[in-house]
Amino acid sequence: MTDIDIALARPEEKPVIANLMQLYTHDFSEHWSGRPEGELGDDGRFADYPYLDSYWSGPARVPLLLRAEGRPVGFALLNDHTHSGRAADRNMAEFFIVRKHRRGGMGTAAAHAVFSRYPGTWEAAVARRNVAALAFWRKAVASHPHVHDIEESDISTEEWDGPVIRFRIEAPLP
Ligand SMILES: CC(C)(COP(=O)(O)OP(=O)(O)OC[C@H]1O[C@@H](n2cnc3c(N)ncnc32)[C@H](O)[C@@H]1OP(=O)(O)O)[C@@H](O)C(=O)NCCC(=O)NCCS
Repeated sequence: MTDIDIALARPEEKPVIANLMQLYTHDFSEHWSGRPEGELGDDGRFADYPYLDSYWSGPARVPLLLRAEGRPVGFALLNDHTHSGRAADRNMAEFFIVRKHRRGGMGTAAAHAVFSRYPGTWEAAVARRNVAALAFWRKAVASHPHVHDIEESDISTEEWDGPVIRFRIEAPLP
């Protein structure tokens, strides 16, 4: 099993996530050709992620830093804003593994650890063009040992365009 540590990011670690967010945005910009999003500023940086501060504002928003051998390898940002219009305990708002560590099971190990830490009803929405992420989430969700009631829908609204996976993670027996 891939050895990955997931920890609540402390406020002073916000710049670590902000730096990783630059890499995440670069990955996403691949899907934004022909659109206004994803242009670099004059300083050669992408615009700051506008919601980052909100992840330290209350229990519904959870900033997690992912580390392997003590080094940052990604992040997960959780909130309770769903794209289906149905309530959920958790929504996987943003999730990222750095390129060096991809395709070795790290994303799956991190996702499983995050789901297990926060049992309940979940949603993960995937942008339509992000076909790699859809393959990843389908497999990561279905392979969790305590997953139930997996549903996938396709949403096309003003607010969201793409598949949404809903599922429930059962809390382990005490
Ligand atoms: C999606 C992401 C988290 C996957 O992380 P990872 O560590 O590579 O994931 P894993 O190694 O656990 O992959 C598990 C499975 O997911 C699928 N998968 C992962 N990346 C894939 C890709 N680029 N293309 C197709 N399938 C992929 C494969 O089935 C893979 O199993 P395999 O390697 O045995 O074929 C990572 O690529 C990433 O951070 N991407 C950019 C940000 C992003 O899209 N985040 C998701 C937002 S919804």
